[in-house]
Amino acid sequence: MDLEQEINKRKTFGIISHPDAGKTTLTEKLLLFGGAIQTAGAVKAKRAARQTTSDFMEIEKQRGISVATSVMGFNYQDKKINLLDTPGHQDFSEDTYRTLTAVDSALMVIDSTKGVESQTYKLMEICRMRNIPTMTFINKLDREGRDPIDLLDEIEDKLQISVYPLSWPIGTGKTFKGVYSIIEKKIILFKSHQKQDSEEAVEITDLSDPKLDELLKDKAEKLRDDIELICGVYPEFNPEDYLAGHLTPIFFGSAVNNFGVRELLDAFIKLAPSPGSRLTDINKISPDNSNFSGFIFKIHANIDPKHRDRIAFLRVCSGTFKRNKRFYHVRSGKNLKSSNPTAFMAQSKEIIDAAYPGDVIGLHDTGNFKIGDTLTSGNKFNFKGIPHFSPELFKYTVNLDPLKSKQLNKGLAQLCEEGVAQFFIKLNDTRKIIGTVGALQFEVIQHRLEHEYGAKCRFDNLNYVKAAWLICKDKGKLEKFIQSRKNQIAKDKDENYIYLAETRWSLDREIKENPDIIFHNTSEFQ
Ligand code: G4P
Repeated sequence: MDLEQEINKRKTFGIISHPDAGKTTLTEKLLLFGGAIQTAGAVKAKRAARQTTSDFMEIEKQRGISVATSVMGFNYQDKKINLLDTPGHQDFSEDTYRTLTAVDSALMVIDSTKGVESQTYKLMEICRMRNIPTMTFINKLDREGRDPIDLLDEIEDKLQISVYPLSWPIGTGKTFKGVYSIIEKKIILFKSHQKQDSEEAVEITDLSDPKLDELLKDKAEKLRDDIELICGVYPEFNPEDYLAGHLTPIFFGSAVNNFGVRELLDAFIKLAPSPGSRLTDINKISPDNSNFSGFIFKIHANIDPKHRDRIAFLRVCSGTFKRNKRFYHVRSGKNLKSSNPTAFMAQSKEIIDAAYPGDVIGLHDTGNFKIGDTLTSGNKFNFKGIPHFSPELFKYTVNLDPLKSKQLNKGLAQLCEEGVAQFFIKLNDTRKIIGTVGALQFEVIQHRLEHEYGAKCRFDNLNYVKAAWLICKDKGKLEKFIQSRKNQIAKDKDENYIYLAETRWSLDREIKENPDIIFHNTSEFQ
């Protein structure tokens, strides 16, 4: 197979949702369809997705499992699908944001009884910012849910994205009869706990067909009205709007009952984009460029805490990555190679000889890689779009064992490279400030510093709510701003200036009063 065929075969997507909407269940059903697993319940990520503080550490211990399950490759029809799972817990949302840099599209799961929830909102914001084509699966139709039209309105309103239902529910909860597939023009009748191959579908090309009344009884008229309404309200479905990230096609179903999943997967195969061009600091790189290139978007500590080697997740963007072939690590200028690049399947890992655009592979890392690093077959450029996002919680680290300060610093530096947290140092202080998106990370850091680095620390609260990266064309003005607010200015690990805001209100005021200075929400502003 040539490179172009390999590219066209691949679909790499991330699955996202507010916790409990059914992401793990849907993932499992997709894998069942792909034949990647044989029985429901096999995806151990389920537990990881619903971690509580106390069982998080256990999960960390079983990190081998979560590594294997966070990227899941499977085949469906003639496509190779790479599914990237994202942490369910909202405290790990920065990890989710970064995972979204490595995908070509996304699948959003929404609970029909709850509608748009806080995490849905945040995640969709990232998808919109990056124009990631996103499909939506409205789940749990077997429960008394909200009115589907209200749900669509809410998605349009709150998530600021156009919608187009490609399937439509017939009743909900106790009266749920099935869905009408608007693209395939057929009724798919609901049965609970459906097997993948036992779907009962009836073709109805014309909704005035009396067959519809026989099938749906009193629900037939309502379906006719609904579809007429939909066709009147939403203009014809244009796949280009989806590909541009302006519109989300909507599917309805019940993941736990394996219902509506095949329609979703079939539409996904047809509509979702294959790997496309990616922006670098010099130009766009097309996937069919024969030179290999890719970037690291995630680093995971290895299973054995005694060995500090790690797994770096590489997203291949162009050309072919080959085992044992040298590649150029742009940040360090080093030529490196990997003798055991790993591909992740649903339940296993395997060493591969070659990987193609869209693939995500694991590289064994002894400390060379950082999140955002670009690897190429020799050209010198950097991929854009792998930023750090502003933390929302900030604490001072206090070393509890003065004899172990070296270990503490090393541990903190490495954990920050893994993306667990970010650290900052204020201009008028030497203490390290750790910033995270969620409270759970502080426990993880403490636990890992103790168990992996033998260092003990405590965290002291700081009253900041946001970090904004500062940039200004007029160096003099920036310098003046920094000098007049020394107590709130810090540097990140790359020596960039950041402003630490005590309240959102004070940040807004600074933005208003300093129009020449840009306050960035992410570290990506070059
Ligand atoms: P998450 O990864 O998004 O956090 O959600 P997950 O799949 O773990 O699902 C959360 C709960 O919702 C689970 O129930 C799951 O069984 C249920 N669920 C998923 N899809 C559907 C659906 O289509 N209909 C209904 N009624 N429920 C659904 P649980 O009680 O928390 O766990 P379990 O004991 O069922 O495993």
